Amino acid sequence: MSIFHTHKSQRIFSLALIVFIQFVAVSYIVSPKREKVPTPYEFPVSYAKEYMNIPADNPMTNEGVELGRYLFYDGRLSGRLDKDSLMSCASCHKQEHSFECGIDHPKYKEGKTFGLTGIPTPHAMMPMINLVWNNEGYMWNGYVNKKNESLGSAHGVPQTSEFHKKNLESFVWMMIVAPHECNGSVERTLEVIKSVPMYPPLFAKAFGDEKITMERISKAIAQFVRTLISFNSKFDQFMRGEVELTESERRGFFIFETEKGDCFHCHGSPAMPLWTTNLFMNNARDIDFTDSSDRSSVTGNPMDKGKYRVPTLRNVEFTAPYMHDGRYKTLDEILEFYNSGLKRSPYVDPLMINVNHGGMFLNDNELQDLKAFLLTLSDTSFLTNPAFSNPCPEDEYFIK
Ligand code: HEC
Ligand code: HEC
Repeated sequence: MSIFHTHKSQRIFSLALIVFIQFVAVSYIVSPKREKVPTPYEFPVSYAKEYMNIPADNPMTNEGVELGRYLFYDGRLSGRLDKDSLMSCASCHKQEHSFECGIDHPKYKEGKTFGLTGIPTPHAMMPMINLVWNNEGYMWNGYVNKKNESLGSAHGVPQTSEFHKKNLESFVWMMIVAPHECNGSVERTLEVIKSVPMYPPLFAKAFGDEKITMERISKAIAQFVRTLISFNSKFDQFMRGEVELTESERRGFFIFETEKGDCFHCHGSPAMPLWTTNLFMNNARDIDFTDSSDRSSVTGNPMDKGKYRVPTLRNVEFTAPYMHDGRYKTLDEILEFYNSGLKRSPYVDPLMINVNHGGMFLNDNELQDLKAFLLTLSDTSFLTNPAFSNPCPEDEYFIK
């Protein structure tokens, strides 16, 4: 039945519909503001996709990642314009040190980071590598985790859901307001970022329109951080059959993977090439536990004293100083600790099977072998990957 034989009101409705569709179609074609849809980001590896920690409301796109990279390096994220008060993620998180600050940083001597007002961070840094596969919570104590319903109520942060301490998105506003980082305000940061002409088009590409909000800034930086992936260490190449290990590296691998060294329980294996379980453990460093921000401060469980998230051993060659408090400066010092310095306490994890006799007690050659194996986890292509680097090295506001 054609529309001309139907009831009058139906006819009017049908005609109105046709006019409306034509109007939409024409305005879609002629509109100068027609936005391009962002392109979905493709990860360069297909490893354990089902474990990737990507919130449903922040899908990864090439444009989002690009915007995030700019903001990660832009010192104006501090909400200030004077050269001494610039700060961004890249102030502390340096690519050449697997995004830690390193032991030789000119400002943060021996890896001791502090904020714009000089207040030290509670802990030493952690590597920022393969974090997209961590579902156990971020930071040494897992304070930022998916179950966390606590809001950033201090420092005048708005009481809305984007200010939960839940995921990588949360690190951005936390950096802005934390006294040991920028000690600033989200309003001031927004104002400064909005005033930079290059940003509105970048936000439009990433999110469909030019609106600049803290939620979008956080989402873009989190997307960039999720792309920081390492999969090209010598050991990865060995597993792909591209290179051989030396005899010493093979022996070290054997020590690592057996009860002799007992490292694999916590730090992974070829089957778990993140080289961490991301779980929280007490690895027998101490007898007295005085840190008020250890794992027990998050769980409220007194048996979690002295527990910290197991750090990945990828690029461990470049991430000194080591442990949550930066107490060891070299890999040799760490190996000495695991070899003969283990301390018994009721809090030590049962997986530290060597704690009963105080260490592994390897001889010097075996220690060298174990170290040689650890060095096969170095991925220098990660440290020099142009996609992770400062996008505006000439710009004086960008952190070198
Ligand atoms: C003043 C130095 C400093 C600045 C600036 C800084 N960070 Fe950090 N970051 C740290 C330190 C120190 C830690 C370890 C904190 C802890 O766990 O106690 C850390 C931890 C992290 C972690 C946790 C890593 C993990 O494996 O759990 C993430 C993610 C992170 N920072 C992201 C960022 C982002 C994104 C920015 C910028 C918005 C930023 N940081 C700015 C010093 C800094
Ligand atoms: C019971 C779990 C466990 C076992 C077993 C274990 N570790 Fe660890 N490892 C940890 C934890 C937890 C930390 C962080 C502790 C801290 O920050 O205070 C750590 C830290 C490290 C670090 C410092 C990394 C950094 O970036 O700061 C290295 C290197 C290391 N372990 C190597 C080894 C080696 C080699 C072995 C075997 C000889 C081993 N671990 C066995 C849990 C373990």
